Amino acid sequence: MRADINYSDIIDSDEARIAQAAADAAPHQLSADIDPSKFFITQDSSKYTQENHDVWRIMYTERMKTLDAQASDVFLRGLNQIGLVPEHVPYVADINRRLQDLTGWESHPVPGYLPAKAFFACLAHRRFPTTITMRPRELMNYLPEPDIFHDVFGHVPLHADPVFAEFLQTYGKAALHCEDPYHIERLARLFWFTVEFGLIREQGETKLYGSGLISSIGESFHALESDHVDRRPFDMELVCDTPFEIDHYQPILYVLDSFEQLRDAMNSYAEQVLEESGALEVL
Ligand SMILES: [Fe+2]
Repeated sequence: MRADINYSDIIDSDEARIAQAAADAAPHQLSADIDPSKFFITQDSSKYTQENHDVWRIMYTERMKTLDAQASDVFLRGLNQIGLVPEHVPYVADINRRLQDLTGWESHPVPGYLPAKAFFACLAHRRFPTTITMRPRELMNYLPEPDIFHDVFGHVPLHADPVFAEFLQTYGKAALHCEDPYHIERLARLFWFTVEFGLIREQGETKLYGSGLISSIGESFHALESDHVDRRPFDMELVCDTPFEIDHYQPILYVLDSFEQLRDAMNSYAEQVLEESGALEVL
C-alpha cells in the first residue's frame, strides 16, 4: 500500500525538481565533492492545512500518552529541547535555531527519496534530510514511507544529544566514503537496528529510541513486551551480521547499554572502514 499524498500542495515543484536532480547525481560524484545543500528545499509553513495540523496534533498527543513511560530519557529530553509542540506541524527553521547551540545538527527539507550516497553526505555534514509532508488521517496508524512525523518527531529529538549527534555524523562519514559492498550492507543493518529500531537500557528498564518504534504505537508495545521478540545486548559485530526484513514487526532487536557504547563502537568501525577505503583523514 502506498500513501496517496499530493506533494505539490506542500512543495514547490520547480524547486523540488532541481533538488531531486542534484541528489540523483550524487552517486556519480566523488564523495568529497558532494554538496548536500543542493538537495534541500524550503518549507513554507503557510502551505499546511488545518487538517495537516490536526493529524499532527492527534498523533503527537496519542504517542506521548505512552512515550513518557516507553521512550529513552535522552529522546524525551531532546523532544523538549528542540521545542516540538502538539499544536502544529513543526517548522524546521525553528528547530534548527535550538539545535545549533546544542550540537550543530540541522534538519533540512528534501523533495523525497534520496539515493544512499546523498543521504550519507547529509549525515556526514550534520544535516538531517527530512520529508515535510504530513500523512493523511486514514494512514495515521501505518505509513509505508517517511513523513514529517516519522522524520522530525521520530528522529530529530536525538540530534540534540551530543553523544548521539557524534555517532550519527561518524556513521555518515563512514558510509559516505565506504566503497566496499560488504561494509555498505553491514552499515545499512547497523542503521536499521539502531537509528530506526534501537532499544536502550536506562535505570534497569528497556526503553525505545529508534524512530520506527518511537513513531509507531503498535510496534512500540510489541518491541517492549512481546514474547516473540529476541532482545539482544548490542554487539557491533552481531548487529552487522543480522539481516532484517522491512514489512512486519521486528523479531530481533538490539539493546544498548548507553549511547556512549554506540558512539565508541561506531568510532572503531569507522576507522576500520575508512582505513580500507583510504579515507581515514575524513574522521
Ligand atoms: Fe527513519
